[in-house]
Amino acid sequence: MAGILVSGLAWKRFGAYRPFPSKEPYLEGDPAVTSPGEEARTPLPDLPHWEDAPDDLPGAIRQVKRALRERIAASGRSVEEVFAVVERAVEAEVADIAAARGRGEEVWPVVDHADIEAGTVPDATVRALRRRGCLVVRGHFPREQALAWDRDIVGYTERNGFLEAYRGPGDDFFGSVGSRPEIYPIYWSPAQMRARQSDRTARVQEFLNARWKHESEGVRWFDPGRDSLYPDRIRRRPPGTDSGGLGAHLDPGTLDLWMTASYQRAFRHLFDGTVERYDPWDAAHRTDGPQYPGTTMCSAFRTFQGWTALSDMDRDQGVLHTVPIPGAMAYLMLRPLLPDVPDDDMCGVTVNQVFPVSERWHPPLMEALTGIPDVRAGDSVWWHCDMVHSVAPVTGQKGWGNVMYIPAAPWCPRNERYAEAVRDAFATGSSPSDFPDEHYERAWPDRFREADLNATGRRGLGLAPA
Ligand SMILES: [Fe+2]
Repeated sequence: MAGILVSGLAWKRFGAYRPFPSKEPYLEGDPAVTSPGEEARTPLPDLPHWEDAPDDLPGAIRQVKRALRERIAASGRSVEEVFAVVERAVEAEVADIAAARGRGEEVWPVVDHADIEAGTVPDATVRALRRRGCLVVRGHFPREQALAWDRDIVGYTERNGFLEAYRGPGDDFFGSVGSRPEIYPIYWSPAQMRARQSDRTARVQEFLNARWKHESEGVRWFDPGRDSLYPDRIRRRPPGTDSGGLGAHLDPGTLDLWMTASYQRAFRHLFDGTVERYDPWDAAHRTDGPQYPGTTMCSAFRTFQGWTALSDMDRDQGVLHTVPIPGAMAYLMLRPLLPDVPDDDMCGVTVNQVFPVSERWHPPLMEALTGIPDVRAGDSVWWHCDMVHSVAPVTGQKGWGNVMYIPAAPWCPRNERYAEAVRDAFATGSSPSDFPDEHYERAWPDRFREADLNATGRRGLGLAPA
């Protein structure tokens, strides 16, 4: 790629980034945080951590669970007590969601793109977004634009013989949904890139990023005004499809959520007796650490996952559901520490497989699974990166079910690192390194090129202005 890289300079210009603040008070035996008037407590025991996936997974699980239990106990509270705090909070949200449904109200907050552009999103909607952790943006793109992009993608794949060349699913998880591709491993169509680099998308991402605390402890954890254009795939599900959907799961990580130093810091309040201070909107320590590799991994830090609809989709046509409770992550992180879970089991979480959420271990969460409202082509759908989600099954789907996956992945050390791999994949038309090595587009002459990037696109890929 011909562009001059500016990545690396950006953080120096911000001047505030420190990946591991030297006065980090939470781990490595430092005293726990004290509130005003609170006595400084004795140091809590260290946690073992593995910056690469451990070879002996059951052994490491046993070791980290014992250490987490001991750390919580040393804070003066029991695991059961801490979990009960989280369980009560989650159950109150589940009841609120059920009550809203009972009143016939939409659980998913909905906002018009025009209000985001004009800065006139009602306060009540902003509060609902923080509470539910998810959002539908109506008219993110004009419907005709989205439908035109849908046709463009068909033309792009047909001209290049994609269906003839298709070799079957390259990843076990999404591969489970059917034989013909539902998920197209296509990353570099002009339609996708135009949507990723559009001003309209940038405004939505900025609005969503602003829900997060991105500065604390003297660190700017991410830049809310700059997205890293995380390239992901498209889904095209034709009329008449029978699909088993996707089970409830979450995507931010697997065993690394408990086992790496940075995630242990990110979730510090769950393990140091200050569970009431856990804030799912705090980006501290989330934007630099490593992730254990796997076919379902996401190297980027995403504030929100999202997709943009390229067809109209009714709510009963096998659509996305979430557990609209961002704080439920605390439940998922603490549940394996209860005594009814075997010592070498993290409620089924392991490396190289998606993080499962189940009736067996997480029954109240499953009650809250709530589908999106009807959407039209051009609407976009967003959910907090830690939130449980699933795709409902459908039989004989009415109409198309087409989306482009475009998240909010703001510029931060982790995304800056990944941007290097993205630039290589973009330059060569390859599948990005987070995804299976399928590389269908390498020889496709009409993929999106560097000359087609606008200023937002260049900035997102870490390229100097043209
Ligand atoms: Fe997912």
